[in-house]
Amino acid sequence: MDKTVLRNLSYGMYVLGACDDGRPVGCIINTCIQVTSIDPVVAISVNKDNYTYEVIRRTGKFTISIIPEDVDPLIIPVFGFQCSKEKDKYKDFSYEISCGVPLLKSKFAGQLICEVTGMTDCGTHCVILGKVTDTRRGEGTPMTYDYYHKVIKGNAPKNAPTYQGDIEPQKEKPVIGDTASRYVCSVCGYVYDGDINKEPDDFHCPVCGVDKTMFNPA
Ligand SMILES: Cc1cc2nc3c(=O)[nH]c(=O)nc-3n(C[C@H](O)[C@H](O)[C@H](O)COP(=O)(O)O)c2cc1C
Repeated sequence: MDKTVLRNLSYGMYVLGACDDGRPVGCIINTCIQVTSIDPVVAISVNKDNYTYEVIRRTGKFTISIIPEDVDPLIIPVFGFQCSKEKDKYKDFSYEISCGVPLLKSKFAGQLICEVTGMTDCGTHCVILGKVTDTRRGEGTPMTYDYYHKVIKGNAPKNAPTYQGDIEPQKEKPVIGDTASRYVCSVCGYVYDGDINKEPDDFHCPVCGVDKTMFNPA
């Protein structure tokens, strides 16, 4: 089976939020679809190792914030590559708790408040159905997963259901004799075109936020 065909499925980009005894938690997901129209229900796919999954399973509530193309550049690195168990991901963002779930106040293309109506175990992931009980209007063009890869040049970690690390295409290698250099972030796979050593010491990966010592030559 050629699993690369699955890359042609389309997705959006979202912050999934939940509340752990009053403490907001959350993660990035690219899997959220509307499955019914009257009394709308959405389906999300969440890795069972994600702390956010654990909290949703316990509380039965979650929020979806639809990421716009001009999202605050810290949202995806903080929510997509770190774990809420150890880190307070909301510390540097403004948010409110509404109906027992967190709503970030950064720019989003809209937000949904949901109550869990079903959970289907899919092995590594769980598909969670949520009845949409309220919405918040937003602004901006919703970011697609394709835009995240092609324009932002971001990657997804192994907990994303669409992760295909085992079949990543070969990255273009510099031609022998070519002076161009490339460095790859060892955390998120972001590719830096050029000599990273020329960046100042406080340079951080624009996708996952680690410092330049975490980059290796490609
Ligand atoms: C672009 C992108 C897409 C992702 N999609 C999903 C997804 O659909 N489902 C999922 O469970 N995790 C997904 N992840 C991974 C989680 O966001 C990541 O594992 C996060 O660190 C979990 O945080 P938590 O432990 O605080 O819940 C994605 C991450 C990125 C960057």
